[in-house]
Amino acid sequence: CGIVGYIGHRDAYPIIIKGLERLEYRGYDSAGVALFDGTKINLTKTKGKVIDLKDKSAKENVIQGTLGIGHTRWATHGVPNDINAHPHYSNSGELVIIHNGIIENYASIKEALIKRGYSFKSDTDTEVLVNLIEDIKKKENVKLGKAVQIALNQVVGAYAIAVFDKSKPNEIVVAKLGSPLAIGVGDNEFFIASDASPFIEYTNNAIYLEDEEMAVVRIGREVKVRKIKGDKIVTPYIQELQLNLEQIEKGGYEHFMLKEIYEQPNAIKDTYRGRLQSRDNFVKMSGIEDNLRKFTNANRIIIVACGTSWHAGLVAEYIFETIATVPVEVEYASEFRYRNPIINSQDVVIAISQSGETADTLAAIKLAKEKGAFVFGVCNVVGSSIARETHAGAYTHAGPEIGVASTKAFTTQITVLTLLALKLGKANGTLSNSEFNKYLLELESIPEKVEKTLLTDEHVKYIASIFKDAANFLYLGRGYNFPVALEGALKLKEISYIHAEGYPAAEMKHGPIALIDEQMPVVVIATKKGHYEKIISNIQEIKSRKGKIIAVVTQGDTQVKKLADHTIEVPETIEPLTPLLTTIPLQLLSYHIAVMRGCNVDQPRNLAKSVTVE
Ligand code: G6P
Repeated sequence: CGIVGYIGHRDAYPIIIKGLERLEYRGYDSAGVALFDGTKINLTKTKGKVIDLKDKSAKENVIQGTLGIGHTRWATHGVPNDINAHPHYSNSGELVIIHNGIIENYASIKEALIKRGYSFKSDTDTEVLVNLIEDIKKKENVKLGKAVQIALNQVVGAYAIAVFDKSKPNEIVVAKLGSPLAIGVGDNEFFIASDASPFIEYTNNAIYLEDEEMAVVRIGREVKVRKIKGDKIVTPYIQELQLNLEQIEKGGYEHFMLKEIYEQPNAIKDTYRGRLQSRDNFVKMSGIEDNLRKFTNANRIIIVACGTSWHAGLVAEYIFETIATVPVEVEYASEFRYRNPIINSQDVVIAISQSGETADTLAAIKLAKEKGAFVFGVCNVVGSSIARETHAGAYTHAGPEIGVASTKAFTTQITVLTLLALKLGKANGTLSNSEFNKYLLELESIPEKVEKTLLTDEHVKYIASIFKDAANFLYLGRGYNFPVALEGALKLKEISYIHAEGYPAAEMKHGPIALIDEQMPVVVIATKKGHYEKIISNIQEIKSRKGKIIAVVTQGDTQVKKLADHTIEVPETIEPLTPLLTTIPLQLLSYHIAVMRGCNVDQPRNLAKSVTVE
């Protein structure tokens, strides 16, 4: 989600609207704005984009005021609709809040507040938070800032919030834990936003709150920052912004793609947050719990998808067969829909789509439904067509993916599908409790291992500089890493326009081996687990034909190192989870090669992010 706030002498409305438009990359399923016009708060919110909010507030003519807050949403709790959109009022209508993040213990707080007479209009955790603040403010008879502080000490989760009080229209209280929050400091005016892009033309001075800090932003006074826990006052560091607008939106990265590659540790964590409960040895996924029988009774699972999502489906095939022992078929949605697929009510179809709008995948879902199958969606965009068309589903929660070449969507799709396989494996008795727990603990260690894998960036960049002028590339892998080879080749094709093919390593001798000479770079995924010896033989076959070998290996490997021209090390993990690590250097390799060749990485020629035509 994106948040914006303003307090000062200018009209707040145009600043907030423009700011929200700049933050729309953070989510865009609903939007809202609350303005204080001198006597009352006017709140407008709507499902849809900022442009819909603009239309609505123009119609209602509620755009006056020099104090206001606005929000553009990426739904987590509650479907995207007008009621769940932010800002949210407290019960008395005195307080109004915007929030980016998740309050994990909202259910118990809500229950307690209901007992104290509070009522709720929306399904959001945010409305619970604003009422908790109101309750504390009244009960303890404290100022807004103090009430926010006490409330946040009771809350578990992640947040960036901004809240103001109708009776104190000279201040906004903000706080941060996990989600970003910047305060723009002008001449007796202040801006609040998820990043500096909404206020860059007004001021170059910004305070970036650290985690567990809050601030009272008051007209006529300097910004007061304090720790949320304890009473320590913090001297705010006012930073002079050197970045331009575009750079800020990209979080300082040169391209969205690189930003998204680097977001993967957090994106994977966001995907399993609240679902993976290793202490209780449990995976919680409501979309499956309600339909568990459909899955356990299924004859087989058919996965339909396109592009990178199809590759995630292929990885999932291996994972499902090992962890849940269910037969799985993976189909290109575009082929599936025009065949006469023999499916019936005993089949479960899983549709995977980042955008949730891909026309072929949508059509495949409709066909599967007509034939009586139960259809489960794995989407990133909340409320998208595929999310609505499927019987049930699980979101990846990777956050908006802007770069056309998919990166974090892929690894988070694999994460969700692993959780799903684990749930099934436990339900149908394939996995013992201890095996199940081993998987959970290992999955929990993946974000840190992805972080470590990202440290190979400089080395991968160096390898890219050697091979940037190659005309062709071959990518090879076996088992779980065969789809990773396909995905690596696709990434390179998409953004660098170098011809690349992905192949199962053993199939090489049935064709592609004819292409190998000293001009041909071959990327081989050769991690220790799974067919290691066999892969080594494949590498030898390439070497004896003078191909150049770039191998992705397990940390500490010695055998492949002796044979390969270049190696990239990834941390060790259990075999089914290796794709979450081995994919990362291949993303970086294609990225750097494309940049070195002067290609438009984020918007490669001829491609689109969401393909709504067949
Ligand atoms: C387009 C994109 C790909 C994506 C594919 C499927 O071709 O360029 O990156 O993998 O569509 O998209 P989906 O949104 O269904 O995952």
